[in-house]
Amino acid sequence: MSADSKAKPWGGRFSQPTDAFVEDFTASVGFDRRLYRYDIMGSVAHATMLAEVGVLTEQEREAIVGGLREIEAEIESGRFDWSVALEDVHMNIEARLTSRIGETGKKLHTGRSRNDQVATDLRLFLRDEIDALREETAELCRVLIALAEREADTIMPGFTHLQTAQPVTFGHHMLAWVEMLLRDRERLADCRRRVNRLPLGAAALAGTTFPIDRARTAELLGFEAVCENSLDAVSDRDFVIEFLSDAALLMMHLSRFSEELVLWVSQQFGFVELPDAYCTGSSIMPQKKNPDVPELIRGKSGRVFGHLVSLLTLMKGQPLAYNKDNQEDKEPLFDTIDTLHGSLRAYTEMMAQVKVCREQTRAAAARGFATATDLADYLVRKGLPFRDAHEVVGRAVRLALERGCGLEELELDTLRGLCDLIGEDVYNSLTLEGSVAARNHIGGTAPEQVRAAARRARERLG
Ligand code: ARG
Repeated sequence: MSADSKAKPWGGRFSQPTDAFVEDFTASVGFDRRLYRYDIMGSVAHATMLAEVGVLTEQEREAIVGGLREIEAEIESGRFDWSVALEDVHMNIEARLTSRIGETGKKLHTGRSRNDQVATDLRLFLRDEIDALREETAELCRVLIALAEREADTIMPGFTHLQTAQPVTFGHHMLAWVEMLLRDRERLADCRRRVNRLPLGAAALAGTTFPIDRARTAELLGFEAVCENSLDAVSDRDFVIEFLSDAALLMMHLSRFSEELVLWVSQQFGFVELPDAYCTGSSIMPQKKNPDVPELIRGKSGRVFGHLVSLLTLMKGQPLAYNKDNQEDKEPLFDTIDTLHGSLRAYTEMMAQVKVCREQTRAAAARGFATATDLADYLVRKGLPFRDAHEVVGRAVRLALERGCGLEELELDTLRGLCDLIGEDVYNSLTLEGSVAARNHIGGTAPEQVRAAARRARERLG
């Protein structure tokens, strides 16, 4: 580019050049160039609308659109010369348009401002990213649903307070994660509706004197509607904050999931094995196989929560309408999106290869008197009020603890000594398989229910 083509588009009013440090400090091109495709998409639609309402001639429109397409190819092939002097992605592309097609390039900015332009670019970009993230979340759900079906009969302890509570099936536990992820997907779809609005036409803040057709621009860009108020259109970033809240929830879910995996692969639990390719060793302790990937994802949730707080803080003191503060919205958004893509990919590939150690999970459930509630329920069915049943079972657990055995190993006479309502059939209620099979209703852990829930979850994914 010639020196002149890098002259400030707003230079007219200024008699001194921008300080070199300030130029660098205020530039965003280093990161907002990521928006180039959307910037060009928005400009093509704007120019097309301007031609349709007669502000540009058809030849001018063609020259502009042709030039923009060539610039897109230049950027994609890595030949584009990005300039910090031209501050941001918008002015870089516009200046290049003029250097390519001449004077007509200068007409593109008619009836718009960088303020409505950047808001438009960001919405177009985020809309695509939401679609991709929803698909990636669906892919992870599919992997977990398949795992749930495979392990529908696998017994493991269910916990409260991280103490063995009642037996559950591994498949049921996986489907709990699927429910959370399905809600995350739903939240993203809901957010998309509010992202999908057109700011263009708001111009700098008050609208424009040209006879623009905003509905037409919205249609060309696939927006559901236009932003109704020009001041709001250029200054609102709550759509980014909403997305970041959804992202924070999704990362919080993956972080909890990671916490479980880290526990489960430990020698103390030994419930699952992660693929070697997803673990690393220790440089000093030869026996180690560390669950780095879940640990890292648990750690990465922190930066995503931080980005949400950054954006809330960024907005809280801003008077209407656009302020340069808003330039700071992009890096947290980009980093959040990159973190989500990486974490979802890692989870999908890792969970597709996870090995469940069925004997270990079953043995762990057998250890913790997990069927104590089943024994109480048995007594209730025999006519004992639940509170009294609870007391009887408490004494049975104490006996078993003293003898160092499981509830199912107590002899019938011993049990009848605690309560004479107990009969031979009590042992059906004391087995782990009997316990899970008995919870046979929607939302329950019975293998039959897990299979049905897996089918429904798959349908909900569409
Ligand atoms: N780079 C700016 C941003 O990201 C674009 C809009 C600048 N508008 C302005 N009037 N300075 O927000």
